[in-house]
Amino acid sequence: MDPTLKLLAFLILALANIRPIKSDFSHCEKVVKNWAFSSLQQRVKEDKHTLRDLLFFLHVPRTGGRTYFHCFLKRLYANAQECPRSYDKLRFDPRKQECRLLTTHDDYSMMSKLPKEKTSVVTILRNPVDRIFSTYEFSIEVAARFLVHPNLTSATKMVGRLRPGATGVSTLDIWPWKYLVPWMREDLFARRDARKRMGSIDIKRNNPYNMEEMVMPLQEYINDPRAHELVHNGETFQVAGLTNNSYFAESHEVRCCVQKHKILGEHILEVAKKRLDDMLYVGLTEDHRESATMFANLVGAQVISQALTDNSSMESAANSKSEQQGSSHAESLPDNDDNQDSTSDHKADEIGSTKDLEEKKETMTVGKLMEAYEGCMSSLRKTQSRRRKSSLKRISPANFSKEDRSRVSEVVIQQIRSLNHLDLELYKYAQEIFAKQHKHVVEKLSSMEAESMFNNLGGITMWKFFSSAMCIVVLLALLFLFVNARRRMSKVKI
Ligand SMILES: *[C@@H]1O[C@H](CO)[C@@H](O)[C@H](O)[C@H]1NC(C)=O
Ligand SMILES: *[C@@H]1O[C@H](CO)[C@@H](O)[C@H](O)[C@H]1NC(C)=O
Ligand SMILES: *[C@@H]1O[C@H](CO)[C@@H](O)[C@H](O)[C@H]1NC(C)=O
Ligand SMILES: *[C@@H]1O[C@H](CO)[C@@H](O)[C@H](O)[C@H]1NC(C)=O
Repeated sequence: MDPTLKLLAFLILALANIRPIKSDFSHCEKVVKNWAFSSLQQRVKEDKHTLRDLLFFLHVPRTGGRTYFHCFLKRLYANAQECPRSYDKLRFDPRKQECRLLTTHDDYSMMSKLPKEKTSVVTILRNPVDRIFSTYEFSIEVAARFLVHPNLTSATKMVGRLRPGATGVSTLDIWPWKYLVPWMREDLFARRDARKRMGSIDIKRNNPYNMEEMVMPLQEYINDPRAHELVHNGETFQVAGLTNNSYFAESHEVRCCVQKHKILGEHILEVAKKRLDDMLYVGLTEDHRESATMFANLVGAQVISQALTDNSSMESAANSKSEQQGSSHAESLPDNDDNQDSTSDHKADEIGSTKDLEEKKETMTVGKLMEAYEGCMSSLRKTQSRRRKSSLKRISPANFSKEDRSRVSEVVIQQIRSLNHLDLELYKYAQEIFAKQHKHVVEKLSSMEAESMFNNLGGITMWKFFSSAMCIVVLLALLFLFVNARRRMSKVKI
């Protein structure tokens, strides 16, 4: 009797447990499939290789997009052609019609605010494991800057006070850092306080990724609910438009369903892959040099020729720029911070640069663009590594070096891979696209562009050839005349 009762109780419990799970799964399946279906319906079936009016740079955090923004896009677009910064979605104003370039950490759902048929999308993806390392390190790096303050209260107060006059967009305003940095900041202060209480302790530096006296260990970080919400599979969610920062009303539910039922991830992945397929350009952080060259050829070249053919956009850019200049002085008043954030960080090069940029563009070529990129990139990298060093000094000896990564246990790496299984798939797919893109560029170069390039080159060499040939002919003629004259002279003499 006892065992039967137990069995009965067990059966009832099991049924009670299974029912909601089952129905939850089928509910989730419906939600996710509906979302995927309607997303795939909205594809624009036009030539994806042609740059449209608006370029949307979908900047996945920690993929190296900043370099592209500063070293390519800033050179190709006038400041007035940039859509208002939208690293925070509350600030984005799609009414500013004439803008041509939008760079943001906002996800693909931003497209619902943009004219779809007129927008080309580009993005860069990175090996997910490296991206997780980089995200962890950057969260800590930025948070560690606050350790100059005696305590957390004064650090957070200071940020509040700095905000109004701050130049540029602060990392603390940008998703996902606006969640990740405060989280790490609080953690760093707590650990520092604990060290103070303990008195002097000897910290051995064998593995900075597991140095709990100083920073949150990597394993703890990747298992935190915040990392699940903001970091893992972040590339797939961003390309799908399902991050925690999405404009889609249904994104929260879809994301939760996918996180709960791993198998439903397939549908998201399918959408993300199709989106990548339709993009004008997909770069890979790892293949950096090749990615940059392709960017210059696939995107840069078209921006240059677009600027040359449609002068009207340049005119309106110039007009709106002078308007902006007029108002930018008013914006620099300290209590008028909202607009200032979006304009002030490039105010320095804004003044009087309209003409320059137009002229620059007229003489800009893919070759020159690449040349400028190389210089810009290396100086940007130097600045970044200097900042990183000085910031990580505050949590010494926990500086994260490349060799240190190899000391992270295989268990943790496997965990990262498993937590980012969608991103691993998407990255593999992006590598295929990258290879196709490469082929496309080579074909394009060997047909039309190379033709004109070679024509140019040919022009030069032909001209050189002709001019040297002419020189030789003239010289020969002179020699002939000279010799003849000498002969005639000598004949006359004799
Ligand atoms: C934090 O530091 C400030 C500045 O030194 C000090 O005035 C304040 O009392 C400190 N707060 C706490 C809770 O220790
Ligand atoms: C996004 O994630 C953060 C951190 O987990 C959370 O505080 C925030 O409320 C989330 N936002 C939305 C819209 O879900
Ligand atoms: C610019 O385009 C307009 C038409 O949109 C045309 O009338 C004008 O001549 C063009 N200007 C130049 C310099 O090409
Ligand atoms: C990191 O710290 C260790 C020990 O503090 C030091 O020997 C090493 O040079 C540092 N590496 C970098 C890249 O700063």
